[in-house]
Amino acid sequence: MTKTRQQLRNWQAEIAIILGSGLNSIVQQPIESIDYTEFSELPRARVPGHAGKFSLCDVSGKSVIFAQGRVHLYEGYSPAEVTANVRTLADAGIMKLIVTNAAGGLNVRFRPGEWMIISDHLNLTGTSPLIGSAQFLDLSNAYSPRLQRAFRDAAHQIGIVLRQGVYAAMMGPQYETAAEVRMLQKLGANAVGMSTVPEVIQARALGMEVAGFSCIANLATGLSSTTLSHEEVLETGRNAAADFSRLLSEVLRQL
Ligand code: HPA
Repeated sequence: MTKTRQQLRNWQAEIAIILGSGLNSIVQQPIESIDYTEFSELPRARVPGHAGKFSLCDVSGKSVIFAQGRVHLYEGYSPAEVTANVRTLADAGIMKLIVTNAAGGLNVRFRPGEWMIISDHLNLTGTSPLIGSAQFLDLSNAYSPRLQRAFRDAAHQIGIVLRQGVYAAMMGPQYETAAEVRMLQKLGANAVGMSTVPEVIQARALGMEVAGFSCIANLATGLSSTTLSHEEVLETGRNAAADFSRLLSEVLRQL
């Protein structure tokens, strides 16, 4: 085993959090960090807002690994490459995985800056990290009902609006057309993005308990008069990060 792999294990964290676009400020006072470049199996990120390192933090007395930066299918990476981070974390002993993303709101009641806990997903990427394995994975409780309850209760206690809904994963990188947005609404999706789902499938295949969150960065195409920009997504993420930090501290205090 390489020195860095051992170092990640020595952190003895049970919980890891993968951070989406613009959410890096959730990481506070890291004790130690290891760059993704230290792991030969991890591909390099190419999108602004994705840093590319694992950071060890103490959150409410629990050791937590923050994965700052991920790669996406739309960058041209394979489903295996996009989920290599999850396998590295599993190898380091992670049992609980929290995935976050920036997403477009499809539910007209949602407002930019609000958080949605993911209750289920629609995999519309057309691919899967399990391709080639003939692994017929059960996804009936992909998003842990126990963790969903814990986060909903904590949000209520500390007065944070926490929406709940279905996340639709698209390949991207272009944002949706207004017609696609109407389709996604009809399919029962509440938020749309371009990440997370491959990681969740991989994590469940490895037996991890999963929770997922979408930061509603903008209203999806056609639902507001503004045009979509990556800068807007990053800016909203930065502002919503503080709410998520509070929520996380509260849940981890209770877990
Ligand atoms: N659509 C897809 N992905 C996104 C969006 C969106 O509107 N906002 C942030 N990520």
